[in-house]
Amino acid sequence: MFSSLARLRAIAFTFSSLAILSHALEGSLFTSSVTYCAPPETLLIQQFDVEYFAANNSVSFNISAESVDSNVNVSASMLVNVFGIQPVNITIDLCGILNGALCPLPQYNFTGSDSITLPGSISSNFPSIAFIIPDLEGYAQLTLTEVGTGDVKACVQATLSNGLSTHQRAVEWTTGSLTLFTLFVALWQSCFPTAILPHRLLDLVNLFQSVAVSALLNLNYPVTYISYALNFAWSLSLFSSGDDSMQGAINNMRALTGGGLANSTSSSAVAFVNRKLSPFNSDSASSSSGSISSLSSLAKRTVESSLLHIQQRDVAVVTSESDNVLSAGIPIYVSTINIATANAFMTVFLCTLILIANALFVFGFGWLSLFAMERYGIGREDRRIQIRRAYSPWIRAWTLRLSSVMFTPIVVFAFYQWTLNDSWLSILFSVIAFLGIMSAVCYPCIVVIRSVRRSEPSVLYTDSFLLKSYGTLYTQYLPSRYYIFLPLIIVAFSKAIIVAFISSSGMAQVILFLILEIALVFRVLLFRPHKTRGADIFSAFLGIVRVVCTGLMIAFVQSIGVKPIPRYAIGLVLAVINSIAILVVFFNLALHSGIQRLWKRREATSSSSSSTSSSLQGSSNIMLEKNVTPSPEYPSSDPFGRPRNPTPERNVPLDPEINQPYSPSSPTATTTDYASTRQRDSESTNFGSVLPRRWSFTPLHTPTESSGLDHTPPFESTLSRTSEEQIEQASHPHA
Ligand SMILES: *[C@@H]1O[C@H](CO)[C@@H](O)[C@H](O)[C@H]1NC(C)=O
Ligand SMILES: *[C@@H]1O[C@H](CO)[C@@H](O)[C@H](O)[C@H]1NC(C)=O
Ligand SMILES: *[C@@H]1O[C@H](CO)[C@@H](O)[C@H](O)[C@H]1NC(C)=O
Ligand SMILES: *[C@@H]1O[C@H](CO)[C@@H](O)[C@H](O)[C@H]1NC(C)=O
Ligand SMILES: *[C@@H]1O[C@H](CO)[C@@H](O)[C@H](O)[C@H]1NC(C)=O
Ligand SMILES: *[C@@H]1O[C@H](CO)[C@@H](O)[C@H](O)[C@H]1NC(C)=O
Repeated sequence: MFSSLARLRAIAFTFSSLAILSHALEGSLFTSSVTYCAPPETLLIQQFDVEYFAANNSVSFNISAESVDSNVNVSASMLVNVFGIQPVNITIDLCGILNGALCPLPQYNFTGSDSITLPGSISSNFPSIAFIIPDLEGYAQLTLTEVGTGDVKACVQATLSNGLSTHQRAVEWTTGSLTLFTLFVALWQSCFPTAILPHRLLDLVNLFQSVAVSALLNLNYPVTYISYALNFAWSLSLFSSGDDSMQGAINNMRALTGGGLANSTSSSAVAFVNRKLSPFNSDSASSSSGSISSLSSLAKRTVESSLLHIQQRDVAVVTSESDNVLSAGIPIYVSTINIATANAFMTVFLCTLILIANALFVFGFGWLSLFAMERYGIGREDRRIQIRRAYSPWIRAWTLRLSSVMFTPIVVFAFYQWTLNDSWLSILFSVIAFLGIMSAVCYPCIVVIRSVRRSEPSVLYTDSFLLKSYGTLYTQYLPSRYYIFLPLIIVAFSKAIIVAFISSSGMAQVILFLILEIALVFRVLLFRPHKTRGADIFSAFLGIVRVVCTGLMIAFVQSIGVKPIPRYAIGLVLAVINSIAILVVFFNLALHSGIQRLWKRREATSSSSSSTSSSLQGSSNIMLEKNVTPSPEYPSSDPFGRPRNPTPERNVPLDPEINQPYSPSSPTATTTDYASTRQRDSESTNFGSVLPRRWSFTPLHTPTESSGLDHTPPFESTLSRTSEEQIEQASHPHA
């Protein structure tokens, strides 16, 4: 699987870099959106497509505009703003040029398209970097001001783009399909209650979601970071394409149930971004708003009629005072992929319904196959009974996994929907979805905690029903740390509250996020809850990545006012850090996907001593053999029917991994002498390679000599750790 994974990524990378390269060679700058920055009076624009080609130094345009006012003398000023820098700010009195041909401004319909080569002197003004950096932040503004009165007669803004972006279809498809592939492998592995891959699947989706959620705060993100985070919008189940039927249906539903907010459109959302934010990066753009108030009532009438005329032609008026601007956070994020702000929750809700339908189909299909097996007597009798017993807990386990995947999207967007004053039906659905997801996630937690309260943590592993149904919550943790899943849920819930309800202050949001992330890292460093040290390191690594990323995001707080270019650089750095974290998770997934199973088989047949020499063996914690699903009916019996454990009265079956017939020669299987528990420091990691010593942050104990070049088999290490638990429990018996 790993080789196919690597090949897939290589293909995706090659394609995307080819696309980027070919585009960079073409090198063009074009207008990606056009809006009026003041109500149109003199100049009406229907279309304004201009593109500059570096290769042949030419400008192609396709413009349709008309000037309607008679007898006005204007001066034109042209302003270009790129990353907050203004390389062009010129004002021309139109009466002074062309022998006064434009004075007064002629009434004229201009419709035309052409490609003209510019004189050589102009080309040098474009720095070549403008053609190759993704998500260029720039716009051009043309203002016509009446000579004498100083009234703004026309103001048009066009955003510039070079066509490159960190939002890439290829990335979406690669990450999405790899996640889907992981899901299928995890479905297979989840037949064994202690398999690692289902946990890693949740880790992976969690990582994608955390990147996506990090772009939902009220911050002035560089466009490139929002584009990057949009690659993972699918993990929040925000699916959309141009003008699709789902958004149309939601528009209709909202319109029929009292929704007054803007509909989804298929046009670019960048035109509606608040002018103070990227890519406009401009406070001066609001300066034109002063002239709006100075319009005479007579002028207003013409404005209204021309507005009507204009809106049919799809060029909107966006000023700092109009109510159609998109504010930072969820509005910009979802609108960029053509989902209206007020449609966001319903999009999540409908995707959830589709997911539920798929899950029901799979569950039903499994049930039918089971039924058919019973009916026609396929397979051995005892196997059938075993499968039937395991089926209902398996469904519960996957329901819980799906619920925890959908927890963040539903809670975030349901909360956000409550802050909008829109369709009552959306709000009703959001309340239903919120209650549903809360009960789906909280009920298993309550069951687990109540079971432990009634007896002791070991019940989580001895009770086969609990283990198979709700093991998702705790099997990756030590029995004594079973409760460590609770902070994850609380943090996800708090983040949703922060995103939705504290959206007035970006600073507060990012600081609260930082506190939560730091708390999660301390949860891992102090409690070291995982069964293997590799899992602790892995979890701490992801946590630290998020702390660093959240910390860097402080630079996006509007009131701090970091300049656009450093902000852009930080956005790129964040994208790179997150990409590395994602690659590490994929690598870890590949190691846990069962590929080393083949290794194990070969080893077992070739030599018995090789179990300590393979470099891959440190990564397998999944239960490999089929007949070892621990259940009260088949207590720790190996395939030959012999009791594997000669001293069962000493060995409370805390952890099914103890009981698996991995290595009959393993001497530690029954020795609970204290010396073996000292090997706690010498566990190998789950990365499959030994990490340098500086990775061993050890606030609670000092590492021993053996930790550097350790090759202890994984089962021994988990054993030694669990046997330490046993000793702890034996020496502190419950009252
Ligand atoms: C200019 O735009 C119009 C309308 O979008 C389109 O029909 C026409 O083909 C375009 N012309 C060129 C040369 O691209
Ligand atoms: C505009 O300028 C022309 C030439 O300078 C002048 O003849 C005309 O009266 C001016 N019109 C207005 C409305 O000022
Ligand atoms: C452009 O230059 C003019 C003076 O030439 C100045 O008044 C104006 O503020 C400048 N525009 C911006 C956005 O800086
Ligand atoms: C420009 O075209 C519009 C229709 O698109 C028409 O109503 C108007 O009279 C035309 N103006 C001129 C000066 O030709
Ligand atoms: C310049 O190149 C572009 C694309 O390569 C082409 O569309 C355009 O027509 C060319 N312009 C001229 C003036 O040759
Ligand atoms: C949204 O679209 C629906 C129909 O699709 C329409 O009835 C409603 O008026 C639109 N709402 C807005 C604010 O444009």
